[in-house]
Amino acid sequence: MHQGCAAVLCVLAVLGLEVAALGECELARLLQDKLRYEMRLQYMKHNFPIDYTLRVQHEEVLRTANVTRLRDGKVSEASLRYLWFHACSQAVLHILEVLPEKHPSRGYTQELSQLLDALGVEYSGYRQNPPLAMWVQLPANAAPQALCPPVDGIAVAHPLSLQSDVDAVVADLVKQLHSGDSRQKAVRPKALLDNCLKVLRMLFGAHCRWDSA
Ligand SMILES: *[C@@H]1O[C@H](CO)[C@@H](O)[C@H](O)[C@H]1NC(C)=O
Repeated sequence: MHQGCAAVLCVLAVLGLEVAALGECELARLLQDKLRYEMRLQYMKHNFPIDYTLRVQHEEVLRTANVTRLRDGKVSEASLRYLWFHACSQAVLHILEVLPEKHPSRGYTQELSQLLDALGVEYSGYRQNPPLAMWVQLPANAAPQALCPPVDGIAVAHPLSLQSDVDAVVADLVKQLHSGDSRQKAVRPKALLDNCLKVLRMLFGAHCRWDSA
């Protein structure tokens, strides 16, 4: 279901998008652009039947209110960005799962998924207990440069070593999010991506020094 990350890096490199060479903030910026209102409206609402919903786990619905609560509980900003990444990736994968091959929203959703996969490489250095590898489908120690055929003129990113511990509360949420056995909830696809974008702005704006003025 989930493509190997190294494979995605290869595809991106071959396409010449150079996405793989970008850092956390550049990738978040690209995601923000892709999640802009007209696109969410077209691809996540107009292209779906009226009132269409999909069933997702409660933990996948990460709202700004959740983040505020977790911040009040002194959860680190890095952990929050990590949680956002997991919630948003799961949401996008769920949307992708319900889209047939030729659906007009498929290409868009796949591009979101590729950007998120590239971001996942940035976060693959995080440690959590029990090991992250249980929940993340990325090859933990994948060396993209070894798996991808060399492509002239395109820098292939090395996973950054962002060694930092994930807060326990976030580790638990991420675990539940991937467990597939907690309570479900019917949500509109656009609402999932609305949350994705709002929380992205909330967490990356200051961190990446985007001019919010
Ligand atoms: C966000 O809060 C809602 C309740 O308001 C809860 O159901 C959901 O699990 C929370 N999500 C996360 C990721 O904490």
